[in-house]
Parts: sequence; C-alpha cells; structure tokens
Amino acid sequence: MKHTIAVLPGDGIGEEVVTQALRVFDAVSKKFQLKFETKHALIGGAAYDKHGNHLPVETMEICKNSDAILFGSVGGPVSQAHLDKWKNCETNSLLGLRKAFGFNCNYRPVKIFPSLASFCPLKPEIVGKGIDILFIRELLGDIYFGEKKRFEENGLRVAIDIARYDEQQIASVSKLAFQAAQKRRKKVTSVDKANVLITSKLWREVVHEVARDFPEIELEDMLVDNCAMQIIKNPKQFDVILTSNMFGDILSDAGAVLPGSLGLMASASINSNGFGMFEPPGGSAQDIAGKGTANPIGQILSLAMLLKFSFGLDDICECIENAVDKTLADGLRTGDISCGGESCSTVDMANAIIQKL
Ligand code: IPM
Ligand code: MG
Repeated sequence: MKHTIAVLPGDGIGEEVVTQALRVFDAVSKKFQLKFETKHALIGGAAYDKHGNHLPVETMEICKNSDAILFGSVGGPVSQAHLDKWKNCETNSLLGLRKAFGFNCNYRPVKIFPSLASFCPLKPEIVGKGIDILFIRELLGDIYFGEKKRFEENGLRVAIDIARYDEQQIASVSKLAFQAAQKRRKKVTSVDKANVLITSKLWREVVHEVARDFPEIELEDMLVDNCAMQIIKNPKQFDVILTSNMFGDILSDAGAVLPGSLGLMASASINSNGFGMFEPPGGSAQDIAGKGTANPIGQILSLAMLLKFSFGLDDICECIENAVDKTLADGLRTGDISCGGESCSTVDMANAIIQKL
C-alpha cells in the first residue's frame, strides 16, 4: 500500500526549508526504493490568504487521509501582528491541529553536533563530551487548553487561564517517556512545581505510579525553576526530561539553544494511535524568509523523525542523520551557524546533505 504524507509548509521560511527536506526525501526514496505520495496543503497565514482561515477544512481533509504530517512553520512578522492574517495564527493552526488529532506527546531531542561544539553558549567544561537530552512534553493539557476567561471585576480588567490535568493525560505521556528512556540512558527527570501547584502534585503522583512498571528506569523529580537552572549549569545530568505543556514549552526552548541554533532542531508530536506531525520548532523566522539563507537541517531532521516514528524506517532516519553530521563535519555552514564567517545557502546545505546520503 502506498503511504501518503501531508506536507504543510506554512509561512516564513517554511516553504524554503520544506522544499529542501522534500529533495532529501526524493533522494532517500530513490536510494531505498520507497514509494510515498506527498500531498501539499495550506496552513497559517498562507491558508488565510486563500481561505480566510488559518486551518481550512481542505487542509484537515488532506491530513486526515494521510499517514503522517510534515509541517514547516506558521506565523507572521512582529510588525504585522495586528493584521487579521496573523491574529491568533499560531493558536488557530498549530494548536488547532494538535487538538484535532489528539497529539498529546511532543518529542524534542537536543544534541550537540561535535563539529558545532563551539556554538554551544556554555563553557566547554560544562558541555564535556556532549549533551543528549530528549524533552518529552505533554501537549494537550495544562494552561494551554483549560478554560479561558476575560471579564471586569470592581472596575478592573481580569483574565483567567485554567491549568487542568486528568490522570489519564499524565499517565499516557509518562509511559511514553519511560519507554523512550528504555532505549536511552534509562533515566527520567519529571519536572513539575509540586511545592505550589495542585496539578503538579497530581502529576508527580501519577508519574510515580507509572514508574512502577519500569523498575529499570531511574526516576527523579525536579522543580521547574531548579530545572531551568540545571539545564544551564549541568545539562549532562539529563537523559529524558518529562514535563507538562507550559513548562515543556519554556524548558525545551532553553534546551534548544544548547546546540547553537534553533535551525538545527527537530520535533515530533504523536497521538495515541501513533499518528504524528513533524516540525522544526524554530518558528517561521520571517526576518530571513525568502532570502534562501535559512538552515534546512531542522526540517530535514524532522523528516528523518517522521520516517522513524511513523513508518519504522529507523535505518533511513539514521542515514539522513549521518549525512547531516558529515556535512557539518565538512565545515558547511548556513548563516545561523557561520559565526560571521563564510556561509552557504539553504539549497547548498541540502545539496551537500543529499550528496552524503
Ligand atoms: C511550540 C510553540 C507553540 C507552543 C506556539 C507557537 C503556540 O512555541 O511549539 O513550542 O507554545 O506550543
Ligand atoms: Mg515554544
């Protein structure tokens, strides 16, 4: 049976980097004789231009009839944030997709590429032989999707976002974190704010219940403020960091800066049926959009994750990751990792990676 991938380039650099990821996909498809079909669809501001909607039904239909989603990025330039085209763009499109497909588990790996070690903002003695953290973020609960209200009280404007978790939501993502740790260094750090929040107390309780099924995994609890500090002070201590939606959003960005550029990052969002969406969490980078200078590596590595998570093609994922490693080791650099030195274009970087495959 032919598999279908929904391709949603979106806004900003999305189109440029997705185009290059698809060239890499063509190359591995030829090399490994894969037979996939890709179907393009509009999302974000690009969809708003045509349909007046950030997540049109046409796009939902294409996603529903696909086996995986390759997502670029959404969102507009800061200076145009007031325009209808960009108002609530990320919430409507990205959070809309997460909710519609029940993507409850978000995987964000953070690794230092040996040849880019000097780009890590931390001192070499802190980085040591390298950092390899897998952030696992719950993606459908918490303050993101709880009740929201704005009203007036005693003449004051008041707003409320409710943080809500049920035990199933916590157990489901915890199980995935322990399973991921089994294939890694067998440690899970569960991050919460259990000294203050009742949602965090429940979080901690449920994570420990799930941990009983994984006696070989070391589990530690860490408060979120301490974790933010530890990611900078001693990131080597972490293997899998498991956390809630809001904390995960913030901590994974702190982690994302360690490899040296957001343009190197990939991510996967998976639902309970194993259906997934794969995207570089770096954003639409409107300031460099259309210039052909964006780093395509995050998007290419997101494609690699797609092949692994959605189709079990672990060796092809590894082949793409190795090609990226070798290309970086050869010294090829896009502007974000060139440190003011010579830099190559988006297409040059993809060409080099394709050559190494
Ligand atoms: C992310 C992003 C999104 C989030 C935004 C764009 C809604 O920051 O994927 O981390 O907060 O989840
Ligand atoms: Mg974020």
